[in-house]
Amino acid sequence: MKKWRSWFGGSARNNAPRLPVDLADAGLWADPAPVWAWLRDHQPLAETASGGYVLTRHADILDAFTNPALGNQPSRFSVLAARNRDKSTAAALTAHIPPFQDKPEHVPTRQAVSAAFHQVFRDAADWVPNLAQDRVAALRGQSFDLVRDLAQPFACSVMARFVGLPDDRQAIKHATQGFFHLFAPITDRAQFDATNAALDQARSFLSATPPPPGSLLAALTESGLPPQAALDNALLVLADGVENIEAGIATALDLTLTHAGDIPPDTPIDAITEEALRLATPGQIIPRVTRAPVRLHGIDLGEGVPVFLALGSANLDPAAHPEADRFKPGRSGETLLMFGRGRHRCIGAQLGVLQISSMLGALRTAGAVRTNAAPLVCQARFGHRWAGRNAGCLT
Ligand code: HEM
Repeated sequence: MKKWRSWFGGSARNNAPRLPVDLADAGLWADPAPVWAWLRDHQPLAETASGGYVLTRHADILDAFTNPALGNQPSRFSVLAARNRDKSTAAALTAHIPPFQDKPEHVPTRQAVSAAFHQVFRDAADWVPNLAQDRVAALRGQSFDLVRDLAQPFACSVMARFVGLPDDRQAIKHATQGFFHLFAPITDRAQFDATNAALDQARSFLSATPPPPGSLLAALTESGLPPQAALDNALLVLADGVENIEAGIATALDLTLTHAGDIPPDTPIDAITEEALRLATPGQIIPRVTRAPVRLHGIDLGEGVPVFLALGSANLDPAAHPEADRFKPGRSGETLLMFGRGRHRCIGAQLGVLQISSMLGALRTAGAVRTNAAPLVCQARFGHRWAGRNAGCLT
């Protein structure tokens, strides 16, 4: 409660957050919805404490996806800037992967990753559901934690096979957690050193064994990308397919159980998954940087200013989603933004939905029930809505 009051600066009555918005405050990520609602109504382009801006309305975020003045490449002031490529693994690695690239580099990398992804994804629907059923069968009769025992080992097994790596959960989690630090502000030297060490270890893990035929690593190795870029893009896919998915499964299941009465029995599972990802969007904000001076919402921004697109807010915007707070599977895909839009849209969206839906389906078939009704606890992770430990037990 104390944290809550401090976040709302004593004015919880009207839900006005303290401004400028502090995106580094764990209190925001514990429950971002009221803050997004206030910002959408009162300050749709709000200044952040770290010197950037956050955009919260659905319509503005849609426009931002096609605004040529907003790019993905780190600004020249960032430790990840191109000029630092020889100085750190983090800067060298981000230079190789699409989320940190703009045209012209982005186009061939994205084409190579997308082609390799779809080559391997082709038969994924034949084996991903089986892995979900195996995981649920292994836990039958036990009370288990949603994330630690169910979602995490499943996501790691799927992505180990997809990418072509040993199913070593500890090594995979170390690699994927280290990787996601690249998407949070780098605040001090010690943290940056730890991130670089984790990335070095991840690169060694990915290069330790020859890529098995049919795997993403094999496809990327043959894609024409330079060898280190191929490995770094395999790490990107591994991280996206583990971290967002273990959280997505836990939140989807939590929402499904909480809103069971609103879900007609014949609702397709993919529609339930998509609605859960809308209401609890795993990637709450995605970063952009102004590549040139630009005027947004009447505010003049210079070059090199971070602008965060709050997808989590856009997905709750009543202007785009009637009865936005309700769990209503089957909404039009046109307005959903959990996978982004445009030139950087998520390459692995179909695999993400397949993984979460496969697990929801396996649990439904096994008749799993919840043994505690504790509210879902989220990790204090910058910009993400990720379920943490103790996300609830099932049996
Ligand atoms: C529920 C699960 C997932 C969510 C919510 C999610 C969300 C996103 C979002 C919002 C973006 C766009 C970022 C931007 O515009 O800057 C993105 C990009 C990307 N995602 Fe996903 N993702 C998920 C699962 C996956 C999976 C399973 C994979 C791969 C197997 C994947 C691979 C990628 C890649 C490679 C990009 C970069 C595209 C680019 O920058 O051109 N994602 N994802």
